[in-house]
Amino acid sequence: MTIGFLAWFYPWTKAFHIISMVAWMAGMLYLPRLYVYHCDVPRGSLESERFKVMERRLLRQIINPAMIATFAFGIMLVLTPGILDWSAGWWHVKLAGIVLLSGFHGMLSRWRRDFLEDRNTRPQRFYRIANEVPTLLMVVIIIMVVVRPF
Ligand code: HEM
Repeated sequence: MTIGFLAWFYPWTKAFHIISMVAWMAGMLYLPRLYVYHCDVPRGSLESERFKVMERRLLRQIINPAMIATFAFGIMLVLTPGILDWSAGWWHVKLAGIVLLSGFHGMLSRWRRDFLEDRNTRPQRFYRIANEVPTLLMVVIIIMVVVRPF
């Protein structure tokens, strides 16, 4: 299914898809870094309370809206006539990458709650490794959608 008039907006839709994706990725790369530093400070300390505010604002004011916008403009691109061949291999890999990124987003939100309630037990090393996940997924997704190797 496609919607005819979306063809007119195509370049704008794609531009805003990329803009919102950059904001989503920026937040997804920064929040695990905050968790790395948050592991270093004592529970209940002034620094810990400040990290909680930074984490809440980053998730609620940047990451969540940017994810919604990336999906909204992405779905508009899917519904634009002549843009997407659903049988294309690159699209299947991209879709898998999007599902994994969304799952990681969910984990970031759950880990934030653990810090908020002073019950994080994961070591700093865990968040350093977690920080690499969105990087790898972003690299795969962008190579798929730009290079389209298969
Ligand atoms: C959230 C769900 C998403 C949907 C439904 C979606 C869908 C699409 C579609 C249909 C296109 C148009 C392809 C074309 O113009 O031929 C596109 C372009 C693009 N997408 Fe997504 N996408 C999503 C998420 C993402 C994410 C998470 C990233 C990066 C991490 C991304 C990066 C891009 C880029 C860079 C382009 C432009 C490619 C080009 O101009 O050659 N998208 N997307």
